[in-house]
Parts: sequence; C-alpha cells; structure tokens
Amino acid sequence: MLNDIQEILLSEEEIQNIVKRIAGQINEDYKGKNLLLICVLKGSVCFMSDLMKEITIPCKIDFMSAKSYYGASTATAGVVNITKDITYDISDYDILVIEDIFDSGKTLEKLMMVLEGRNPQSVACCSLLDKPERRDPNVKLKLKYTGKTVPDAFVVGYGLDYNEFYRNLPFVGILKPEVYTK
Ligand code: IMP
Ligand code: MG
Repeated sequence: MLNDIQEILLSEEEIQNIVKRIAGQINEDYKGKNLLLICVLKGSVCFMSDLMKEITIPCKIDFMSAKSYYGASTATAGVVNITKDITYDISDYDILVIEDIFDSGKTLEKLMMVLEGRNPQSVACCSLLDKPERRDPNVKLKLKYTGKTVPDAFVVGYGLDYNEFYRNLPFVGILKPEVYTK
C-alpha cells in the first residue's frame, strides 16, 4: 500500500494539529447552540472521529452518505445520490456537515440543499481538505472550516479512498498516477 503513495500531503501530526485548531473554533462558535455533527460517509469517518473527541461542548452525531464517484473512476460523475440519510428531525439543530474533501463541490452543495430544505436552525460545513482548482464554477457554497488546501492531485488515506482501498492509511498522500491509469 505504501508503495502506491507518491508523496505525503498531511502527516499524522499535521492532521492532529488541524483537528485541534478546527475543534477549538467549533467550541467557540457553537457554544450555547444545539450542535449536530453530520459525518458524510465513508471518507469523513477518520476526521469525524478525531474531531468529535476534541469538541468539548455538548453535541450529537449522525451519518449521511452520498455518492458522486462510481466504481474506480477518479472523475466526479454529474449525478449525486443520497444513499443513506440521517435519522433526526433537524429543525431544532445547528447542523455542521463534516466532509473529507471539497473537490468539484457538487456533492456537498447537493447535500446542503437537502439539509437546508428541512429548515434547521443553521447549516454549515467543515472539510478536512479543499481542492479549489477543481471547483465547479456553478458551485456557490463556501466552507465554514477548512483543514488544508491541496493541489489538484488524487489523494488517499485517513478515510479517503481509491476504489474503496487506502482508507486505513493514517496520513493523507498523493496516489501515484500509475495506480489508477494502469
Ligand atoms: P465533489 O462532489 O467533486 O466535491 O467530490 C465529492 C467526493 O468525491 C468527496 O467527498 C470524496 O469522497 C471524493 N473525492 C474527491 N476528490 C477526491 C480525491 O482526491 N481522493 C479521494 N476521493 C476524492
Ligand atoms: Mg466523501
């Protein structure tokens, strides 16, 4: 698995620093609010579990899943499906969506539209990674919290996959292009 990584973009230490910084901001910003963290499966699972442990204010968690990448493709498909929904009535909650990567932005924008339609107290998003070079020009959504801006390369690890593999790497790295072009 390690042989398939071209370069480490975020070390374990750097990830933990990001997690602590963002959790600190959330602890301030959501003090006295009714916070519900929504983890977007599966890519955000590592980020969510580290982040929630650094959040010291009361909050609840839930999970959602949306699909925009199909099979082994590394290019975003146009269609976004919600394949698993949350279980809460969110009208009383301040929603913070936890994402792994903000790429074209279509998946997150669609998710946000669905959640906004359910009239929560507020809705915002937090993404570990941001790949602004790949943003779809039609996407207007802005992140409230960003871990790190990354270059336009396909990255894996710390939850992020290629063809469902590499999620268990403890760091984020650039996948060697020959892995997905062969
Ligand atoms: P978007 O709709 O293009 O913003 O992409 C949404 C989803 O695509 C993310 O939540 C990831 O699951 C996946 N994705 C985008 N870029 C990458 C990448 O570089 N590595 C792994 N997954 C990615
Ligand atoms: Mg994802």
